[in-house]
Amino acid sequence: MARLLLGVSGGIAAYKSLEFARLATLAGHGVRVLMTDNARRFVGAASFEGIVGAPVLTSEYERDPMRGAFPGEEGERTSHDPIGHLELAANCDAFLVAPASANTIAKLAGGFADSMLTTSFLACTAPRLLAPAMNDRMYADAATQANLATLRERGVEVIEPEEGLLASRGERGRGRLPDPERLLARIEAVLSGGQAELPGVETAPVETEATLLDDDRGPAAIGKPLASAGTGPWSGLRVMVTAGGTREPIDAVRFIGNRSSGRMGMALAAAAQRRGAEVTVIAANVSLPEPAGVKRVDVETTAELAYETLERFETQHVLLMAAAPADFRTEPITGKIKRQDSLNLNLQPTEDILAQVAAMRSESQTVVGFAAEHGGDAVDRARGKLERKGADLIVLNDVSDPTIGFESDENAVTLIAATEEIEVPKAGKDAVAEAILDRVDRLRAGARTAK
Ligand SMILES: Cc1cc2nc3c(=O)[nH]c(=O)nc-3n(C[C@H](O)[C@H](O)[C@H](O)COP(=O)(O)O)c2cc1C
Repeated sequence: MARLLLGVSGGIAAYKSLEFARLATLAGHGVRVLMTDNARRFVGAASFEGIVGAPVLTSEYERDPMRGAFPGEEGERTSHDPIGHLELAANCDAFLVAPASANTIAKLAGGFADSMLTTSFLACTAPRLLAPAMNDRMYADAATQANLATLRERGVEVIEPEEGLLASRGERGRGRLPDPERLLARIEAVLSGGQAELPGVETAPVETEATLLDDDRGPAAIGKPLASAGTGPWSGLRVMVTAGGTREPIDAVRFIGNRSSGRMGMALAAAAQRRGAEVTVIAANVSLPEPAGVKRVDVETTAELAYETLERFETQHVLLMAAAPADFRTEPITGKIKRQDSLNLNLQPTEDILAQVAAMRSESQTVVGFAAEHGGDAVDRARGKLERKGADLIVLNDVSDPTIGFESDENAVTLIAATEEIEVPKAGKDAVAEAILDRVDRLRAGARTAK
């Protein structure tokens, strides 16, 4: 969980920063907000203060009642009253200015230090990101482009604005602030050291454009929650669930597979949806319907499951890997193999998706793996998997009991985390899903306090 400094300057897109602050706070980050005087003409400081639970600062001469602390770490810095702009800049893990107005961009490029935002920006050595938002002609102007080029040369990451409807009536162009989810995903990727571009966000330098209203929502939606956000304790979280079992073709009609039906994965997707999360399920050969409102991506093989999971992983807060991938594949034979006395298949291991995910993950992401083990030392083997694969939690299914697990409506699992093991007794898969999500909640709360 990170300490994020959010700078807000004067433009209509400042309303989107409220949503950014809400999502970042829900995701467990501590957020402090710095607003320019002009930003306060567009949105109120009280809204930010209510969302992040900390005072907003505007002038570098203001006293910071929290003495440079971020929400979640109050009480740790009580000995003296520090210089506000230096303290916050020194304590943050990343500084995002969104929206960055043409005026503020010019000031930052010129090294001006005439407000809390600009002074802190200058004093900040953590990763600094800017999300410009303005009219397309303002954005295209050589002055703005030169200022952005200067900032880029100094290591500031510029999150390019998107193209679409602008605030100015009837105008379209480049200058719209990307959606808050995208801003958050980008900053989380930077914090985890990832350089990969966020799908759907253009980051190449562009020539023009202008901002502000969402094509599909219009001015009436300003200030309202995003259409994709549900209500509930997990509102603002993006959760991805893998479900079912992959199949590796042997020939045109046969495959290597397993008995996973996808019921557990769908129960997890439904439970996360009920808690208000935005849920995507990657379904491997699942014949069950997905819960209403859940995005579904169908796959067949382990390679497809790996591709679809890794492609989306960067933007997710929680990944629940309930799918049972086939562990081996063979080179498929064209047509149907004729009946014969014996047949040798050369089996090769498939992708280790959990290990790949663990290598890409950031601290703010929670990764839950599943292990189907057969009796005996199942717990030891699952704990070994937890440690080897770098997951936060392993959900162990003991598949030696035929009345639970695969194809059954009931399950009994052991939740194995670094410090404890919890038995979840035999129950319907919905109840088991809730128990797993409760444990995820506690893990995420623990990660926040540990910071
Ligand atoms: C209705 C209205 C909308 C504006 N929208 C933007 C905008 O989206 N982007 C921008 O750069 N400036 C915009 N401006 C101009 C800025 O508010 C102005 O340049 C101001 O000085 C910015 O101050 P700041 O950078 O200190 O916050 C807008 C002005 C008005 C009156």
